[in-house]
Amino acid sequence: MPRSILLLYSLSRRRLSDSIRGLFFIPTTLALITSLFILFYISSTSNLFTHPHQNRLQVKHSFRSSTISPPTRPIIQVSHQKWTEDPFPRLPGLAEVDEISSLADDGGRGIENRRSMKHQTDSNGNYVNNEVFHDRDIFLENFKEMNKSFKIYIYPHRQDDPFAHALLPVDFEPGGNYASESYFKKVLMKSHFITKDPSKADLFFLPFSIARLRHDPRVGVGGIQDFIRDYIFNISRTYPYWNRTGGADHFYVACHSIGRSALEKADEVKFNAIQVVCSSSYFLSGYVAHKDASLPQIWPREGEPPNVTSSKREKLAFFAGSINSPVREKLLQAWRNDSEISVHFGRLTTPYDKELLRSKFCLHVKGFEVNTARIGDALYYGCVPVIIANHYDLPFADILNWKSFSIIVATLDIPLLKKILKGISFDEYLQLQSNALKVQKHFQWHLLPVDFDAFYMVMYELWLRRSSLRVPFSALVDSTR
Ligand SMILES: *[C@@H]1O[C@H](CO)[C@@H](O)[C@H](O)[C@H]1NC(C)=O
Ligand SMILES: *[C@@H]1O[C@H](CO)[C@@H](O)[C@H](O)[C@H]1NC(C)=O
Ligand SMILES: *[C@@H]1O[C@H](CO)[C@@H](O)[C@H](O)[C@H]1NC(C)=O
Ligand SMILES: *[C@@H]1O[C@H](CO)[C@@H](O)[C@H](O)[C@H]1NC(C)=O
Ligand SMILES: *[C@@H]1O[C@H](CO)[C@@H](O)[C@H](O)[C@H]1NC(C)=O
Repeated sequence: MPRSILLLYSLSRRRLSDSIRGLFFIPTTLALITSLFILFYISSTSNLFTHPHQNRLQVKHSFRSSTISPPTRPIIQVSHQKWTEDPFPRLPGLAEVDEISSLADDGGRGIENRRSMKHQTDSNGNYVNNEVFHDRDIFLENFKEMNKSFKIYIYPHRQDDPFAHALLPVDFEPGGNYASESYFKKVLMKSHFITKDPSKADLFFLPFSIARLRHDPRVGVGGIQDFIRDYIFNISRTYPYWNRTGGADHFYVACHSIGRSALEKADEVKFNAIQVVCSSSYFLSGYVAHKDASLPQIWPREGEPPNVTSSKREKLAFFAGSINSPVREKLLQAWRNDSEISVHFGRLTTPYDKELLRSKFCLHVKGFEVNTARIGDALYYGCVPVIIANHYDLPFADILNWKSFSIIVATLDIPLLKKILKGISFDEYLQLQSNALKVQKHFQWHLLPVDFDAFYMVMYELWLRRSSLRVPFSALVDSTR
């Protein structure tokens, strides 16, 4: 029984230090230890004492028995009622921030109420967090601070720089699959986060656009590695900032997956700098979870999302895309002829948005990379995303509680997909879907940033990583020579 010995050891150490002043306490202490030992032994081997986990089993049991009689699940109903009774409207933009002060005014009662609602039980009696944020209060507090004080220095480039088109923001509205990369730079450069004074900067932005270099005939896919190596060489000779930290307070943003190999000749960028990338798979050696951050891949759409609450979603699940990975092949094999899960490979005969609007769940399935724009698409059309992409470091996972608005399914479980989706009760689905609508705005780009949109969320992710300085890579290499 090594655990109980360990416990006794720490107990006896505390006791001994208390009685160190009088030696005659030792017999008493020993007697106490012995009785503690006996008590502990009895408690771990008999039913004389109630154990916390036995309690839980009993509770679980009583939940079960109460779920048998009525057709709907009482536990979910309770949580649903609580939800609609919530006196605090959720996520109406700026109002959220004001909410903190109004909560503080009512003597903290509001906070208590809300805290108790955060955790609810599912049909198995397990605690689940239905909030879309891991901790909304902390996020909002930090966000305010970030918005006020966070400063970025961008290496300046002139309009007549031969590579201006890849170093300066684009002069058109970004679109398509890799728009996230261009949107971020365009919005950042006009934002209040920019400082012209490097001594005030928390982070330094490396403004090259990998997606644009890819199409430059002077660079191309084969030349990106050399370009980035030269770029770092240039800034590290021209400015003192790179050498100071070996690049640890620098970042770049890339949505195209070519970014993964783009840093092959610039190890310091890969190992020290913060990489904000769409292809954020922690299975790959080029991506370091916690140091790097996931950029959501978003196909920008005009205007406000459609009023999805009114639409009828009669289809269980939907996927469309090409078969470019073993995971998608597996999906095709398992569900190609299914009447409820519709998987389309090749051209869709119906409009894509119609399919997203009439499906309960929309599948995001790993292709070449873990990321595609499908999560953003699903959320825009109010469809609950099902993520089948092992090792995907999901966007904003530091902030958002993905379990509250999506279903994550391991590749191995593709044959169980229908069982998993059908195992979700209607009330649970309503909860997921209403949460999906709440996170919509975090997956949208705007030319003029809107509070809590994709731009601000990425800034927040950067802010979380701003002070994690690392030992310069060159110092490590030199010391091993
Ligand atoms: C962040 O700062 C900008 C500029 O000062 C301001 O327009 C915006 O409303 C702020 N957002 C929040 C949530 O405080
Ligand atoms: C680096 O600097 C040299 C000399 O100024 C310039 O010709 C070259 O284009 C620069 N390379 C990059 C990638 O910035
Ligand atoms: C940065 O370090 C490199 C290599 O050690 C050196 O050649 C360069 O001059 C340094 N840059 C500055 C601005 O001092
Ligand atoms: C969405 O549709 C519902 C019912 O169809 C309606 O009550 C609601 O006002 C609509 N919301 C918006 C923003 O149009
Ligand atoms: C699906 O249908 C095709 C032809 O309609 C058939 O060849 C195939 O075996 C079916 N697959 C499954 C998994 O039932």
